[in-house]
Amino acid sequence: ALQAAAVSTGSLPDRERVRSLLAEAHERYNDDVSGEVADYIPALAGADPDLFGLSLAGVDGGVFSSGDAQVEFSIQSISKAFVFALIDQLLGHDTVRRNIGVNNTGLPFNSVMAIELNHGSPMNAMVNAGAIAATSFAPGGDVESRWEFILDGLSRFAGRELVIDDEVYRSESASNGRNRAIAGLLHSYGAFGADPDSTVDVYTRQCSVNVTAEDLAVMGATLADGGVNPLTGEKVVDASVCRDTLAALAAAGLYERSGDWLYEIGMPGKSGVSGGLVTISPGKGALGSYAPRLDPAGNSVRGQRAAHFLSGALGLNLF
Ligand code: DON
Repeated sequence: ALQAAAVSTGSLPDRERVRSLLAEAHERYNDDVSGEVADYIPALAGADPDLFGLSLAGVDGGVFSSGDAQVEFSIQSISKAFVFALIDQLLGHDTVRRNIGVNNTGLPFNSVMAIELNHGSPMNAMVNAGAIAATSFAPGGDVESRWEFILDGLSRFAGRELVIDDEVYRSESASNGRNRAIAGLLHSYGAFGADPDSTVDVYTRQCSVNVTAEDLAVMGATLADGGVNPLTGEKVVDASVCRDTLAALAAAGLYERSGDWLYEIGMPGKSGVSGGLVTISPGKGALGSYAPRLDPAGNSVRGQRAAHFLSGALGLNLF
């Protein structure tokens, strides 16, 4: 009955039920030690692998959390979803589709081969190629004003002023040769809005922005709410941009595992290599999680399991 009510009213089940299911999800997967913490960015390797935070934000502004939901970590690839939304707002549906794309690559998130196989198309804004291409379209001449646009946009999604983790930024800047290669290759195909080196710098900063599981829940709930942040009431992007973004996430938010993810969880989601994950229930809210151990595709193990459990228990699978 609760699930039927949730579907028909477009809201989440009552507060007590949400609270107890979040606690149950935390308890269920808190002992799961499968997966490995990412180490290809040296500063991420030191994360405490046992941290586990869950947070759920509703479009009505209610936020519920369990475990380490206030611990900060770098947003990494999850920034791609929100920067895509900011750029889609600027360029519009058709231009984004033509210049960035929305198709799954079927290949890992940092694949160079995918660009070559697709004649220079960045493919979609959730893999590094398309995300770096999206960042290249940030408005403003110099690096600082382009960065300001992105940091301000991400902060408006979160409903608070986000800041960069300098250690992660420095560490990633010193080890991002692959992203610089991807940017150079895309630029050579002409699919770029700015010079490749400064674009990778802005992209690396955006990946190094600190968030918590609660922030991710609120950011996701803003996409669920047609672009209105449920905490601040601010309209961050248009409802049509949210639709575009959620479609892109459904296709590619978990890279080459996006089909499995959609099959099991039935909602758009986005993962990041530091262990964050956001899952969006259109019209209802979003789940944010943090747990640093990852599967081989770079997706948080506990985060995926908790999302699977909660999707079922809260009746959120869209299909
Ligand atoms: O560009 C990179 O490789 C990282 N800043 C982000 C990659 C990432 O988060 C992939 N996630 N699962």
